[in-house]
Amino acid sequence: MSLPQSGDLQRLYETRTSSRWYRALLPPDPFLMNPRENIDAPLGRWNLYIGGAGTRVEGYINIDLFLLAGVDIVADAHRLPFRAGVFTRVECDAVLEHVACPEQVMREIQRVLAPGGFAHVVAPFCHPFHEYPRDYRRFTPDGLKQMSAGLEVVAEGWRTGPSATLSVFLLEYAKLLLPWRAWRAFAHGVLGWLLFPLRYLDLLLFRSPYAGRMGNHCYLWLRKPE
Ligand SMILES: C[S@@+](CC[C@H](N)C(=O)[O-])C[C@H]1O[C@@H](n2cnc3c(N)ncnc32)[C@H](O)[C@@H]1O
Repeated sequence: MSLPQSGDLQRLYETRTSSRWYRALLPPDPFLMNPRENIDAPLGRWNLYIGGAGTRVEGYINIDLFLLAGVDIVADAHRLPFRAGVFTRVECDAVLEHVACPEQVMREIQRVLAPGGFAHVVAPFCHPFHEYPRDYRRFTPDGLKQMSAGLEVVAEGWRTGPSATLSVFLLEYAKLLLPWRAWRAFAHGVLGWLLFPLRYLDLLLFRSPYAGRMGNHCYLWLRKPE
């Protein structure tokens, strides 16, 4: 697979770690995490975080395509450079939409997990296009389960709900109408502050059986049989 290594891509990653003063003015995230997402899945001696460029993840070996802050090993998730059965936990958060073959990545996660180990997989359903470094597809919980590669599904749900979807699309739509980068940044700031209270409605909507019609990101907890 040939990957773009342009300055644009580098800048995209840098914004994730930037600590510039104006970040203090940025609105809160339009997302509210589902409080029911976390389950009691302990970390072990070895745990794997896939795709954490720009993030320090305590307790995990962090692999990514790019050697940026926080990354321990440069590797492609399609071919994990580890022997079978070594990891107690594997975290794959917002990565599957960026890989050419998510089924192959799921098979690799299954392979490197230790028996009894847990994998936590999160993927977008209704979310704007975003390249890291590509953006190939979206997922439903059933679509994720279909790729679970023999792992048992122990929990599933929506990490971020319909209100998050509405806010992120309104923000993107407003920015589409504006020709200049500075205007887009301004609109993001103003609209972001106006829209962020919407996210609290997701606390109600997480309980609705229809939340999945326009859920933002879904999650699965998977366990490798003993
Ligand atoms: C949207 S970011 C996810 C970041 C992080 N999990 C989070 O939620 O903040 C996707 C990450 O996956 C990485 N990535 C994309 N394709 C990959 C692959 N084939 N193997 C390993 N990492 C990959 C990207 O470089 C990027 O850092």
